[in-house]
Amino acid sequence: MAAKREDVIGSFEAPEDMAALARDHLVQPWPTAGEIGAEARGGIVSGDGIYVIDGEGRRLIDGPAGMWCVNAGHRRKELADVLYQQAMDLSYNSPWYTMNEPSVTLSARLAGHAPGDLNHVFYTTGGSSAVETALRFMQFANNVKGRTEKKLIVSRQGGYHGSTYLSASLNGRPRDQDWMDSAADQVIKLTCPNPFRRPEGMTEAVFCDFLVEEFRAVIEARGADRIGAFVAEPVMASGGVIVPPEGYLRRMRALCAENDILFIADEVVTAFGRLGHVFASKDVFGIEPDMITFAKGVTSGYFPLGGVMISSRLFEELRRSNHPDAMFAHGLTYSSHPIGCAVALKNLDILEEGLLDHTRVVSAHFQSSLKTLEDLPLVGEVRGLGLMACVECVADRVHNNPLTLDLEVGKRIDKHCQELGLLVRPLINMCVMSPPLTITVPQIDEMTAILRSSIRRTMDELVREGLWHG
Ligand SMILES: Cc1ncc(COP(=O)(O)O)c(C=O)c1O
Repeated sequence: MAAKREDVIGSFEAPEDMAALARDHLVQPWPTAGEIGAEARGGIVSGDGIYVIDGEGRRLIDGPAGMWCVNAGHRRKELADVLYQQAMDLSYNSPWYTMNEPSVTLSARLAGHAPGDLNHVFYTTGGSSAVETALRFMQFANNVKGRTEKKLIVSRQGGYHGSTYLSASLNGRPRDQDWMDSAADQVIKLTCPNPFRRPEGMTEAVFCDFLVEEFRAVIEARGADRIGAFVAEPVMASGGVIVPPEGYLRRMRALCAENDILFIADEVVTAFGRLGHVFASKDVFGIEPDMITFAKGVTSGYFPLGGVMISSRLFEELRRSNHPDAMFAHGLTYSSHPIGCAVALKNLDILEEGLLDHTRVVSAHFQSSLKTLEDLPLVGEVRGLGLMACVECVADRVHNNPLTLDLEVGKRIDKHCQELGLLVRPLINMCVMSPPLTITVPQIDEMTAILRSSIRRTMDELVREGLWHG
């Protein structure tokens, strides 16, 4: 018989009760077929600053800031207060035929931070719906302009853009597509711009030339009149914190402009302070995209919200078109949600009033402290930018051969880290970190020390099990 809420409430003090209920009733994201509908994951009970408390009462540094999102840190009273106050003032209004003050004010403030003429915002419920919106807008704009063939979307191997049908079709990580259907006929995938995995003996500059020429060749082969958009994360997040070669984004942006292909910067992770700025495209990489998608850090995860910054030029073109009645038939019940927008405004205050400056200061230490882990023989590379980093483990450091999937080294390191007080995000042979931006220098050193001990424990374990020989 199904449990009633009043019967189960309060019983979560025992982690095994929570796990049992979860197995019976909760479906978590990205389950495997072997566990689907019968899975429990580690329970998290509360959060405070850069820490979370798990079901067993352990206090852990929240290494991935939830899911790259708790930028301002947990338990911020000013964010909770604004959420409560907005719910009391106006909990919801329909964006179909009304508007609310927080969404209008937020749009103006975001336009002030966005590069070039990205003066307009379409709000969504998260990152996938933001990417989906940007792509549907590209399709709509080209339909209105009579360029109905100009719809192909170019993305990259290793990228991640979401879990709705079209956004997921852009994903390029191994295993993302294996068992899922996708709009593959609408998408072209370019080589992942990962300098660490460039061909042996090739310089980074030559690798960059190769990547740009590959895009140029695709445009020539498929025709600029058939390609509508190029979608790229400035730093690939879930693909393993991949910082592209110097100049790559500027050159790809220029190719898009030459061929009238919209450049959509997917800043779902890189915006809202992660790289020390509200948006990273211009301030970090010197590019002005046609659209920027954002989510996650916009509310520091206190409320689900995303959006797309869209160029004024694109709207002007549409208004001048011969189809004034053509409708962008796209919108979400929770577009421009007043609570999300009110929380985002307060979150922006926090960023502007010192958190961006703090992030820029501690980022250098974050990168150099983690970089010291490269002296461990299991570690092939530590890379990152701002407050995003990845430790990639390899089987041998001469050829940087990847460790095989079944060793699940990321998971092993994460297990040891949790015992020692740190959550990391395991990704096959990698561990990814993107802590709350409030992290301090001593806390960064603590993270590095825990990682060092955990990687050492993992190396010992692999040697003991005869899986790796150092
Ligand atoms: C770059 C990027 N784009 C889009 C998404 C999808 O966002 P959401 O999970 O909020 O739908 C993610 C999520 O991790 C992301 O990292």
